Amino acid sequence: MSDQATVLRELASRQAPLKHKMRVISVTSGKGGVGKTNFTVNLALALADYGLRVIIMDGDLGLANVDIAFGITPRYTMEHLLAGEKSIEEILMTGPKGVGILPGGSGIQELANLDRTQLLHVLSNLGRLEKLADILIIDTGAGLGHIVLNFLRASDDVILVTTPEPTALTDAYGLLKALRLERQDLQVNIVINKVHSEGEARATYERLETAVQKFLKESLNLLGWVYEDQSVVRAVMKQEPIGISYPESSAYRCIQWVAASLSGLYLQAPRQVKGIRGFLSSLLKNL
Ligand SMILES: Nc1ncnc2c1ncn2[C@@H]1O[C@H](COP(=O)(O)OP(=O)(O)OP(=O)(O)O)[C@@H](O)[C@H]1O
Ligand SMILES: [Mg+2]
Repeated sequence: MSDQATVLRELASRQAPLKHKMRVISVTSGKGGVGKTNFTVNLALALADYGLRVIIMDGDLGLANVDIAFGITPRYTMEHLLAGEKSIEEILMTGPKGVGILPGGSGIQELANLDRTQLLHVLSNLGRLEKLADILIIDTGAGLGHIVLNFLRASDDVILVTTPEPTALTDAYGLLKALRLERQDLQVNIVINKVHSEGEARATYERLETAVQKFLKESLNLLGWVYEDQSVVRAVMKQEPIGISYPESSAYRCIQWVAASLSGLYLQAPRQVKGIRGFLSSLLKNL
């Protein structure tokens, strides 16, 4: 081992190590029933295909959507975590392709009303997810509720799902407006679901973007679109996501495309952060 290598290794080890950070993505919509859960579940499967470790948190306050989409029956939910009865490892379930599932139950609602001890318990449990996954996707449920907005505010990325339907677009705009008042730096990614053509997707996006630019003075990002596809309806009946039952379907291909650009986005940041220091550390390990 050369002296120079020793000095360099010394230098590199003095720098703070690159901390692995889990990216938190919230999937939301203004109006209910636009396809969030279907999109979330299949996005997780598509990201898993790209080698990313993904956990889905079912943040929907109503029905346990994610469980139903996967056809699983959870024994424990976030409710048990919040009550301090179970740990995050005990409620975490493993779905197809190793995708982790955190069933919501009615627990999410209680997140807003925790005392300090409970909050510390929940935070330390959620913190442990960092070791288990690269991406946490939260299916937030629809609307302008306090908890949904909190999730969105706290996330690294927000994906807003809408359909071309005028009411869905109006509600999407309403959600964006509420969000803008809270957090100005947030870039919202749009997915247009149930479209019949790329042209329809782009025209829908432009309608939303024009209103947002004009009245909210913000720009959006069109992340992708998903075709209206009977495979989705069949998969819902079978309680098996299209990523498993119809991986060749046009809807799943659209979601794979979104996953490809998302994983590209995801890989970009750590590479920049790592920089020359990380490069040197890796290099020196092999000397
Ligand atoms: N791309 C698609 N093509 C055809 N049908 C679709 C598509 N996406 C969703 N659907 C239909 O819409 C229904 C609602 O989808 P989903 O449950 O994912 O919506 P959601 O936004 O999660 O609803 P909620 O707000 O109630 O949680 C599905 O049961 C399915 O039948
Ligand atoms: Mg849902």
